[in-house]
Amino acid sequence: MSDAHVHPVQPAWKKNALIDNETYLKWYADSVGDPDKFWDEHGKRIDWFKPYTKVKNASFEGDVSIKWYEDGLTNVAYNCIDRHLERRGDQTAIIWEGDDPSDDKTVTYKELYEHVCRFANVLKKHGVKKGDRVTIYMPMVLEAAYAMFACARIGAVHSVVFGGFSPDALAGRITDCKSNFVITADEGLRAGKRIPLKDNTDKAIEIAAKDGIKVDKVIVTRRTGGKIDWVEGRDFWLHEEAASVEPACEPEHMRAEDPLFILYTSGSTGKPKGVLHTTGGYLVYVSMTHQYVFDYHDGDIYWCTADVGWVTGHSYILYGPLANGATTLMFEGVPNYPTPSRMWEVVDKHKVNIFYTAPTAIRALRGVGDEWVEKTSRKSLRILGSVGEPINPEAWEWYFNVVGEQRCPVIDTWWQTETGGIMIAPLPGAIDLKAGSATLPFFGIIPELLDGDGNIIEGEGSGNLCMRQAWPGMTRTVFGDHERYVQTYFSTYKGKYFSGDGCRRDADGYYWITGRVDDVINVSGHRMGTAEVESALVAHDKVAEAAVVGYPHDIKGQGIYCYVTLAEGVAANDDLRKELIAHVRHEIGAIATPDKIQFAPGLPKTRSAKIMRRILRKIAEDEFSALGDTSTLADPSVVDDLIANRQNKR
Ligand code: PRX
Repeated sequence: MSDAHVHPVQPAWKKNALIDNETYLKWYADSVGDPDKFWDEHGKRIDWFKPYTKVKNASFEGDVSIKWYEDGLTNVAYNCIDRHLERRGDQTAIIWEGDDPSDDKTVTYKELYEHVCRFANVLKKHGVKKGDRVTIYMPMVLEAAYAMFACARIGAVHSVVFGGFSPDALAGRITDCKSNFVITADEGLRAGKRIPLKDNTDKAIEIAAKDGIKVDKVIVTRRTGGKIDWVEGRDFWLHEEAASVEPACEPEHMRAEDPLFILYTSGSTGKPKGVLHTTGGYLVYVSMTHQYVFDYHDGDIYWCTADVGWVTGHSYILYGPLANGATTLMFEGVPNYPTPSRMWEVVDKHKVNIFYTAPTAIRALRGVGDEWVEKTSRKSLRILGSVGEPINPEAWEWYFNVVGEQRCPVIDTWWQTETGGIMIAPLPGAIDLKAGSATLPFFGIIPELLDGDGNIIEGEGSGNLCMRQAWPGMTRTVFGDHERYVQTYFSTYKGKYFSGDGCRRDADGYYWITGRVDDVINVSGHRMGTAEVESALVAHDKVAEAAVVGYPHDIKGQGIYCYVTLAEGVAANDDLRKELIAHVRHEIGAIATPDKIQFAPGLPKTRSAKIMRRILRKIAEDEFSALGDTSTLADPSVVDDLIANRQNKR
């Protein structure tokens, strides 16, 4: 291996590993050589009420149709809970660690079964039926997990909306999937601060009503006991409802291709898309990746720090781990509360063996000093995972050396909301690591790099990352808009899934993700369309025009840089800057808080009035010596003003 930062598989990682290098190579060859046979064998890792006879029926051409195990019948909640009861009834399924370090709970598989069944019966009692969309807007409490499994149990389709989103953002998602049921909490709690979830829900319901969507029922979990408004006949306390229903509920027999959930995610244009995932193939894929990528063994304590509002929370806090009968940890708090030792204290407290987090957290904790890590033991840790954005080699090495004391492999996992599960990642006992590379594809995955003209790049080189063939965990459609699905993922390169990411393949065949090639930015691991921030800005009456780009940020990965042209006669000043920042937070949520706002009398446009973002990106990066050709601009002089007033001078 040629590159620096190579970390060969250590003998200890190999010792009890589920997959060694030889097995990886053989299974990989089998999986791409005869996908039907391979996925037939591995489809049996979940239980089926009626076994499938067809394995794969997928085409990336034309209308794009993806079906796996299509004639099989199963249920996700049954697979994640019921089938474990006999052997693992008294085993802890979920460890819940509260925002306050003295607050924790454990739930056994038996208890999980009862909570989920009661919740499912509450939903049924209130009229939720198979196929209905249920919006879940919750903090990281156990009831969020119960709610998701309750939907899966009765065949309702959940749409979890991250608790940090604003009433407007929530309303947009309720309206798009025509959801008449919402599950929420009185308030959330993060770093000691209360988040007004019920209040936001009330506001969102009003906004949705204006768009013609009526929310009939709201089920509310009590978290803080804070004061909230109440609509009689519409709002119901979960604890009261759950006490009055049966503790058992038969799981619905779902077809493999019945929808399991919708999750909204940002693209380069327009509103967020409702990425749809289905039942059988998704569960096979997430459980299999969870087992092999994290080398999960019976009895391991596994902790993924994501929020259930994102795909990582769906696939790798709940569905994947619990399908494998794992013990999974759900954390309500944040990495630096009450101190920057919190993560490692939680690791010690619950003897966590496998820890999965995002580079932004690693960089932030690295920034505050090693002493916060070193005062904890971390002896239980065996595997360290990373997800959500490229991990820079410095952060990787710190994670490996300081957190893991060179004992634990760092598993960098590349995937997306749309892929459902992990696509490119090292298997701990099988694949030598390189700091900053997600390494090699999982079974069944054939990455391809394509250039701008659609030529496939063989061997070493860089290009746009695509997938040649279907895998069981992939998204099947965009809810309510199949055309947009085809357009977004399968039209850039005919017959291929296009990820939107750029990527380099090195001489050893390792993949290095270089970031998005479209107008999507990744801020602290949160995916955002620059178009969404722009439309929030132009919704303000003092703004005439806005253009938003990402720029490199030491902790967040990317920061949000906004160029704003003000309406006639409006004066630019710092108060207005603050007002606009508050406005964007209000429209979208805190995750979209602009880092820099530059007032710009004019934006660089071509003669056909297209904004040249390439130039804006360079100026935001403070790299304006390399602006390239500006002669095609309608008014090249705007560039001088933009440079002179740039907000990111080094
Ligand atoms: O750009 C890639 C980046 O995150 C995008 C997907 O975001 P989302 O759908 O929110 O899912 C995040 C969690 C799976 C990708 O297009 N990304 C994700 N993981 C990595 C990554 N970039 C580099 N390395 C990764 N490991």
